[in-house]
Formats: sequence, structure tokens, C-alpha cells
Amino acid sequence: MPLELVQGDIVAQDCAAVVTAANKELMGGGGVDGVIHRAAGPELLRAIRRLGGTPTGTAVITPAFGLEGRGVQYVIHAVGPIWRGGNSGEAELLAGAYRRSLELAVEHGCSCIAFPSLSTGVYGYPTEKAAPVALSTIRAFLEVHPELEVRMVLYDPGSLNVFQRALARLAG
Ligand code: APR
Repeated sequence: MPLELVQGDIVAQDCAAVVTAANKELMGGGGVDGVIHRAAGPELLRAIRRLGGTPTGTAVITPAFGLEGRGVQYVIHAVGPIWRGGNSGEAELLAGAYRRSLELAVEHGCSCIAFPSLSTGVYGYPTEKAAPVALSTIRAFLEVHPELEVRMVLYDPGSLNVFQRALARLAG
């Protein structure tokens, strides 16, 4: 199945590319980014700091360093938007962060990419609104790149449920 929804931990995924929810300064953070940096080690932070930053709605790619032993080759640092009520271009920026991550995975020859739910933690994007944006962006990309396996990794059962219902609505 090219698009899969699973409940779990992003660092436990054996995908060639694993996505983290970064900030545009690429300064490292808490949440899912903290989990990935702890697992990948200090080289990851040094590598993204050398890149300087990337605008909201985009993504950059680095080696996976300490995660390489787990079958991960790359970490993709995606910058989703901060939720400001929904009229500040949040949906377009969120879609852009997913799309650019997918493009980077394909450009680097990855057959699998694992995403956390971008922007729905510290950045406050309601999961009910983020899920259809994430899933429709991924599905549109998979129409062009059906060879790619995309895994949405939801940390808690509530988020998994929201994504499952959103996927059913898109499919129906
Ligand atoms: N695996 C998968 N998902 C996780 C994990 C994990 N181990 N830990 C947390 N999550 C989920 C959260 O439940 C949330 O739904 O990841 C989602 C994204 O949450 P955040 O990490 O807070 O990301 P975001 O909302 O995009 O905020 C980004 O937070 O860490 C800072 O530097 C980062 O400023 C940036 C901001």
C-alpha cells in the first residue's frame, strides 16, 4: 500500500527517509524534532545549522547520522506553519512542507518516507484541519510517483483516528 497510517514513534520507522517537524531557523527543537535529534546525535544539529534556515512551507534534507543503523538514510527537516486561525495561508504552507519533503525523498532515491503530523503540536494546527491537507497532498503526489511508500506515523490514538476518518472521506 503506497499510503499507510500507523500509530507509533517516528524514530522506530525503518524508512529510508524520516521527516521531522523543524522550525525555519533550523535551530533544533522539542517535540518530534527533539526525539529525532536525540536518536540521530549531535552531527545532525551541526549539519542543519550549516544550512542556515529554510522558509516555512519548505524542507531540507541531511544524512540521518545516528539513525543510519536503523535503516534510515536521510532526515528531512520540514517546516510547517504556525496556526494563526486559518486565514494566513496555513493550508498552502502545510501542503508545501509535505510536497517538498516528498520531492526530496524521490530526488534522493528513497523508496519509503515516514512523516509525523506536521504543525499539529507546538505550532497548534488543529489535527482535524491538518489531516485532509496532509493526505490530499500525499495522494496527489502518489498519483505521479506510485512507486513511493508513504507512512504517516501518528503518535497518539486520537490523531490516528482523525487521520483515518479524513482518509475515508477523501477516498469516498
Ligand atoms: N513520533 C511521531 N510523532 C510524534 C512524536 C514521535 N516520537 N512525538 C510527538 N509527535 C507528534 C505530536 O503529537 C504532534 O502531533 O508530532 C506532531 C508534531 O508536533 P511538534 O513536534 O510539536 O511539531 P510542530 O507542531 O510542527 O511544531 C514545530 O516545535 O520542536 C519545535 O523546533 C520545532 O519550532 C518547531 C515546532
